[in-house]
Amino acid sequence: MAEKPQQKQAQEEERQACIEQVAQLMSVRARGAVPLAMVRTYGCQQNVADSEKLKGQLEQMGFSFTQDETQADLILFNTCAVRENAEYRVYGNVGNLKNIKREKPSLIIAVCGCMMEQEHVAEKIRQSYPYVNLVFGTHVIHRLPQLLHRVLATGKRVFERGDESAHREIIEGLPVSRDRDIRGWLTVMYGCDNFCSYCVVPHVRGRERSRSPQAIEAEFRELLSSGYKEIVLLGQNVNSYGKNLDEPVSFAQLLRRLDAIEGDHRIRFMTSHPKDATRELLDTMAESRHICHSLHLPFQAGSNRVLKAMNRGYTREQYLALVAYAREKMPDITLTTDIIVGFPGETYEEFQETVSLVREVGFTALFTFLYSPRVGTRAAAMEDPVPAEEKSRWFQELLAAQEETSAQRSQSILGSVQRVLVEESNEKRGLLAGKTEGNLNCDFAGDPSLVGSYVRVKVTESRNWVLKGDLV
Ligand code: 5AD
Ligand code: SF4
Repeated sequence: MAEKPQQKQAQEEERQACIEQVAQLMSVRARGAVPLAMVRTYGCQQNVADSEKLKGQLEQMGFSFTQDETQADLILFNTCAVRENAEYRVYGNVGNLKNIKREKPSLIIAVCGCMMEQEHVAEKIRQSYPYVNLVFGTHVIHRLPQLLHRVLATGKRVFERGDESAHREIIEGLPVSRDRDIRGWLTVMYGCDNFCSYCVVPHVRGRERSRSPQAIEAEFRELLSSGYKEIVLLGQNVNSYGKNLDEPVSFAQLLRRLDAIEGDHRIRFMTSHPKDATRELLDTMAESRHICHSLHLPFQAGSNRVLKAMNRGYTREQYLALVAYAREKMPDITLTTDIIVGFPGETYEEFQETVSLVREVGFTALFTFLYSPRVGTRAAAMEDPVPAEEKSRWFQELLAAQEETSAQRSQSILGSVQRVLVEESNEKRGLLAGKTEGNLNCDFAGDPSLVGSYVRVKVTESRNWVLKGDLV
């Protein structure tokens, strides 16, 4: 249920009071020096965007930032739950903090993000990592001041996850401390309703909620006026943007609204779900002035039986038809995808259909994952007879197929002139690094003053779509 305005105002007042009190308490702990926070982010772009909001709030509470764990007064890990490996890494890194905490007992250790929305994980931290002071989930990142205040004021451990109501709430107006200054992240929607059978995201990020087009446009304009040149719209499934708004808006409509804004910036978006990617969307991209012709379109598996078991809602043929339409409208489009190898019950023959799809489409990059069972998902209860070593062999086979296809195709760009947005300068190597419209990395020699501008680069080398070139 929506909160009443008085309730909202009371919460905002509490938040402001906590910001001030945390600032005071931390200043005492840091003996008058500026308190330092180290924030480490695991996982996807959405987590990166969340961390920018956590950092924005930490700045409000008087923190500066450090990369050095031993210098920090507060260490905050924003975790990812999408695969086992990511979780192991977090446990390992939290384990490593034990000694740092022993040396510096005043250090505050906080762990947040997707992993912490899972009951069994929070419990494991409670039992096995007693030196962690604060544990909170994705639904309560806006409550960081209140949570930190509780830790500092009581000296007790604090655990907080979102309840049912949090799954429906969108918090606007949080301060953002952005990591980059050319490319900016802009979240358009939160959560996911798809329940792909292998995926933990709907369980930890809750139901789909779209921000209003007005709020998105306001943040978009803010980014432009701060000098951002590339804006990446984020959501687990951007193509279902707007369906649940009081006045429904399609993602294509949102894109058209943003595309109408003047400037020399670019727009990208991710992630697209093939079942919701419409021809209207592809037409909009083709006709737009600012939207890059590049699309991240995860297909996950090439076999229709496996796609069904994954609950993906499209067939191989529908996926290929979508790609064909995209290429017809935008012959220069670059495509990337996500693939899961070894879904429970997948046979070698079915896996071969993944390999053939990769060869057929010709992606510029693959993000390939070995299936990893996740607590609470439907796939975790399915029979999974293929041994891990065999799945690893399949995985290698897929990478080899991609390398072969990609090596051939990637030559096609040689000699072309690309419009590159310069993002970084590596002064030691005397090189600039930027990205083409198709999201390919491109290195070339040039003056550091070009960072932030568009240049034309003639491609002289293309190794698996990593480009080198000369300024034109
Ligand atoms: N095992 C392996 N890969 C997964 N992904 C999501 N859940 C799992 C899982 N349980 C992959 C999908 C998704 C990407 C972000 O992570 O390919 O698109
Ligand atoms: Fe996970 Fe599927 Fe939602 Fe993507 S669309 S976040 S894979 S459930």
